[in-house]
Amino acid sequence: MTPPDPPPGPAPAPARPWALLAELTHACPLHCGYCSNPLELTRRSSELTTEQWTDVLRQAGELGVVQAHLSGGEPLLRRDLAEIVAAAETAGIYTQLVTSGVGLGEKRLAALVSAGLRSVQLSVQHADPRVSDRIAGRRSFAEKERAAELVRAAGLPLGLNVVLHRENLDVLDGLVELGVSWGVDRIELANVQFYGWGLLNRAALLPTREQLAGAQEAVRRWRGRLPAGPELVWVVPDYFDGVAKPCMGGWGAVSLTVTPDGTVLPCPAAAALPDLDPPNVRDHRLDWIWGHSKAFTRYRGTEWMSDPCRSCSRREQDFGGCRCQAYALTGDATRTDPACGLSPDHGLIREAVEAEPDGTVQIRRRVPGGVEGPAARV
Ligand code: SF4
Ligand code: FES
Repeated sequence: MTPPDPPPGPAPAPARPWALLAELTHACPLHCGYCSNPLELTRRSSELTTEQWTDVLRQAGELGVVQAHLSGGEPLLRRDLAEIVAAAETAGIYTQLVTSGVGLGEKRLAALVSAGLRSVQLSVQHADPRVSDRIAGRRSFAEKERAAELVRAAGLPLGLNVVLHRENLDVLDGLVELGVSWGVDRIELANVQFYGWGLLNRAALLPTREQLAGAQEAVRRWRGRLPAGPELVWVVPDYFDGVAKPCMGGWGAVSLTVTPDGTVLPCPAAAALPDLDPPNVRDHRLDWIWGHSKAFTRYRGTEWMSDPCRSCSRREQDFGGCRCQAYALTGDATRTDPACGLSPDHGLIREAVEAEPDGTVQIRRRVPGGVEGPAARV
């Protein structure tokens, strides 16, 4: 019999964060049913000012951050985006714009490039323009196509991001062909994560095992056919194989997220967790937040774990899975992520996966003036 592993040690001293996710605004022209924005959005009047973002980026540079993802919502809705890019450039931080492409004209892109923008990640919802527009909740495919063309013409690295779910997993071939025809360098095939709106719409989004197997096979085939790229990144779904994901590379281990109003969190979904006393850049310096705030130290390392994670040999590899998923599904963020087959709560995931897909379930989503869909409220 294998002896049990030694008990977990104290949380390691935090290394410097590598990346910063700057959620510049929650406002967005699209209305996707898997949106990773929280259910309660930050109002535009509460967003950080240009000066405050400039200071955040300066502090991030001093802290050792090397890459900032300028995201949202739709970051292009910030009129001062070029100034924010320039602030990151001054701080020695590489910037990637994470965008729907809506509003990315030639002049705007030129201003961003001259401010120091280094790369663009463009979202697309489906290979068929009409279905893409329907999933996005507005006409946007043509603007995305144009945005891709402009980014290529500007000579910037371009990535395509596709959130995969029941409605688009079967068109994997079409999505890869689309990326190739748009000349992208990388296609991120990101299986939907079930937090916030995604969890609310889980019954409509959750794929079948057969769909996932078919898509994975397609990715293998395309990798063989496209040895020179684009790079195909398959972001694994965690509902299907009983293996928890090492969410965010570990709590407070790799990156920090700054939300539109200046709240700083270890991941975008952590706003929903209770008892984190989320710090804000208006009140605290970023280095203190990273090193000492409760929000970043609460689940860092392995000390916080209870069994089965506490005595599990995988605890340093997956860090007990995702805290936000544990909280969303069990109401207790200290529990083992139910995605793990060893979790006493794994039945919650198994039930969802084994349920017969119901093709009649409608998506709920935020639209101008409220929420659209069943019961029209969240
Ligand atoms: Fe990972 Fe915890 Fe499951 Fe072990 S019990 S595999 S540490 S989630
Ligand atoms: Fe927050 Fe996984 S999304 S820890």
